[in-house]
Amino acid sequence: MPRPIRKAVFPVAGLGTRFLPATKAIPKEMLTIVDRPVIQYVVDEARAAGIEHFVFVTGRNKSVIEDHFDNQIELEMALAERGKDDALSALRSELPPAGATSYTRQQAPLGLGHAVWCAREIVGDEPFALLLPDMVGQAETGCLSQMMAAYEKHGGNVIAVEETTAEQVHRYGIVGVGEKDETGFEITEMVEKPDRDNAPSNFYISGRYILQPEIFGILEHQASGADGEIQITDAMIGLAQSQRFTGVRFDGRTFDCGSKAGFLAANVAFALARPDIAPDFRAELDKIIGAVAATRNKAAE
Ligand code: UTP
Repeated sequence: MPRPIRKAVFPVAGLGTRFLPATKAIPKEMLTIVDRPVIQYVVDEARAAGIEHFVFVTGRNKSVIEDHFDNQIELEMALAERGKDDALSALRSELPPAGATSYTRQQAPLGLGHAVWCAREIVGDEPFALLLPDMVGQAETGCLSQMMAAYEKHGGNVIAVEETTAEQVHRYGIVGVGEKDETGFEITEMVEKPDRDNAPSNFYISGRYILQPEIFGILEHQASGADGEIQITDAMIGLAQSQRFTGVRFDGRTFDCGSKAGFLAANVAFALARPDIAPDFRAELDKIIGAVAATRNKAAE
């Protein structure tokens, strides 16, 4: 039986330049999908998979994330006084238990790999989950929960993947597909942002990982890679020389909320999945789509 996965790392120290000016003073992880911050969805996914300790690697201007996962006593009192019990219990249920969060700072955004390395002292010598907060999955069972079966069977390292097109492979880390079983497949190679002719498959790494602690020793000496940043994929390639990596195809859909189109699509998809607002929202969408189609038809006449 492999060692249990108790801790999850959330790297939230990036600059979020693609969302400027929105992210000048607000971290991109606090932008909302419907009425909840992006980071809340990802923390909920980790909790549902049995994670007990939540490690945030933050940076300047990110302290609001810490506040979000803390008690807001005045707010709770005001809700109680006004009899808003549903809102109050929703707030309370989303709060991680006392002592279950840790925060450390990445002092300069040197890359995702470097952000993960910054969590080494808090994670210690045990396997851990890594969740990229800007990748938000929509599924009946969360992505990290889906990965646990492969981890229980094979141990080692597990990566969630999804399919993309040959035209898009240059945007992602891409894996090679080896022997398969009911839980996933053996990863034969990993390439960061390959051009389409050198991509081993169309399966891209979609932002969820279970990693063994030996990754920290490799990250310590990892040189900068693509985009001049210290890349987690490069360190995983090093670790794959001595440890197994299993790929799990996520049964669901991931929205890349680091891109504007992905973030907007996530808002539409999650709003349509919410019974409390879906009927009104669908009517609004129909109006917008109808108006756009009418303008297009007029232009074509
Ligand atoms: P991204 O590259 O998508 O985030 O990193 P970014 O740099 O904030 O975005 P843009 O391109 O400038 O808009 C993926 C995840 O890794 C974190 C980010 O916060 C994001 O959650 N990250 C990235 C760090 O924590 N530190 C880094 O140095 C880089």
